[in-house]
Amino acid sequence: MSIFGSRQRTRVLALANQKGGVGKTTTAINLGTALAAVGERVLIIDLDPQGNASTGLGVDQRPISTFDVLSGHATIMQAMVPTPNVPRLSIVPATSTSCHSSARLAPPAGGTIGCATASPP
Ligand SMILES: Nc1ncnc2c1ncn2[C@@H]1O[C@H](COP(=O)(O)OP(=O)(O)OP(=O)(O)O)[C@@H](O)[C@H]1O
Ligand SMILES: [Mg+2]
Repeated sequence: MSIFGSRQRTRVLALANQKGGVGKTTTAINLGTALAAVGERVLIIDLDPQGNASTGLGVDQRPISTFDVLSGHATIMQAMVPTPNVPRLSIVPATSTSCHSSARLAPPAGGTIGCATASPP
C-alpha cells in the first residue's frame, strides 16, 4: 500500500524557489530516494539546466532530456531513465540545452534570460 493511501493516484511535487542554493536539488534527490525506499515509484523531472539532480543520482548519459520533451521532440517515456543505484527511482534528465528551452518556451516580457551554463558550440 502507498504511504499516500490505498488509492492509486499520482502525486506531483514541485520543488521551486527563486533563490539559489537553498536546497531544491538536495531535497529532490533525498525526498525521491526516501519515497522510493519505502516502495513508491518515483519519477524526478529535472528542469534545471545545471542538471545537478541528474548528476547527483548518477545519470551521466543523457541522450534525451527534458528539453526534448518540452519542445515536443520526445515523450516522457522515451526520456526517462532508471537511476543506477535506487530501485523504483527514475529521472528525466536535464542538460545544458534545457537552458535554451527556458528562453524559447517562456520568453520574458521585455527582458532577457541569462544562462550560467555554457552550451557546446
Ligand atoms: N539541509 C541542508 N543542510 C545543510 N546543507 C544543505 C542542506 N540542503 C542542501 N545543502 C547544501 O546547500 C548547497 C546548495 O544545495 P542545492 O544545490 O540543493 O541548492 P539549490 O537550491 O538546488 O541550488 P541552485 O539554485 O543552484 O540549483 C549544497 O552544497 C548542499 O549540499
Ligand atoms: Mg539546484
